[in-house]
Amino acid sequence: MAAIVKSYCIAILFLGLVTNGKELILWFCDCSFNDIGVGQVRSERLIQGKPEWNVTVTNNCSCFQVLITLACKGFQSVEYVEPSILFKQGDICMLNKGHRLDGHASIAFSYAWDPPFLLMPVNSTVICTVSGE
Ligand SMILES: *[C@@H]1O[C@H](CO)[C@@H](O)[C@H](O)[C@H]1NC(C)=O
Ligand SMILES: *[C@@H]1O[C@H](CO)[C@@H](O)[C@H](O)[C@H]1NC(C)=O
Ligand SMILES: *[C@@H]1O[C@H](CO)[C@@H](O)[C@H](O)[C@H]1NC(C)=O
Repeated sequence: MAAIVKSYCIAILFLGLVTNGKELILWFCDCSFNDIGVGQVRSERLIQGKPEWNVTVTNNCSCFQVLITLACKGFQSVEYVEPSILFKQGDICMLNKGHRLDGHASIAFSYAWDPPFLLMPVNSTVICTVSGE
């Protein structure tokens, strides 16, 4: 897997590269926030009479992504949602404090409200590392 990512990154080397000493970082990886998938399933639980939803946010791409934001207009929950996982700023929620979500990795959280919120990905910054992983 790492080897595939590596050759893929080298193939787009001409697009731009910066060294920061330890790792090579390439931008313009062929990924975007469109490769972020948000899945929600209703759990068995009711919290204060409201259904609980289990949300899984998956980076469906080989390169890691940072500063992932989700549309979360009007988002509320009677279940406490850890702000380090989902931090609401107006109509936008920052995922994982803006920290990296690795390629093909997921982050999960639950909230409780009726009806559920759509939580569409709106933005991210894609970073493709050649080494240092
Ligand atoms: C994630 O990848 C799978 C397999 O390539 C694909 O079927 C699915 O539609 C992708 N989902 C998103 C949100 O990109
Ligand atoms: C929802 O999340 C809770 C807590 O992580 C877990 O115990 C439960 O099995 C999950 N339910 C579903 C339907 O995924
Ligand atoms: C997405 O984030 C980039 C910086 O990472 C910013 O320049 C751009 O305006 C943002 N786009 C939207 C739709 O928020």
